[in-house]
Amino acid sequence: MSSNNLDQLYRQVIMDHYKNPRNKGVLEDDSLTINMNNPTCGDRIQLTLKVNDGKVTDAKFEGEGCSISMSSASMMTQAIKGKDIKEALKLSTIFSDMMQGKDYDDDIDLGDIEALSGVSKFPARIKCATLAWKAMEKGLKEDEQ
Ligand code: FES
Repeated sequence: MSSNNLDQLYRQVIMDHYKNPRNKGVLEDDSLTINMNNPTCGDRIQLTLKVNDGKVTDAKFEGEGCSISMSSASMMTQAIKGKDIKEALKLSTIFSDMMQGKDYDDDIDLGDIEALSGVSKFPARIKCATLAWKAMEKGLKEDEQ
């Protein structure tokens, strides 16, 4: 696939998650709640996670933000559901490496997340893409302690 076609495909994947977000909403009961905002623009996310026996059994998000931040939140919640805390945090490290344009562990199937790889070329948007991931890391690291 030419890089133009790939860019176009990635754009479509991002817009699909933005317009049809997966896991939108708020989990009740014993869920972890993490609120985070992007200081550069004020956009915000509320992430709720359910963790049982070291596994993320459910994840939902609410928030206001640009297409990159909201699609990234949608992809992230989709990716971590059913994963062990360790696996979810590993995904977060991979995503952070991807955003910094570093080589990242591609043994794991990243699915739709790959569509955000191009964001690394736009430093001003990296905080948009990592907002939901930072919220997830904060929640899971606090839960691990
Ligand atoms: Fe605010 Fe992207 S412009 S999160």
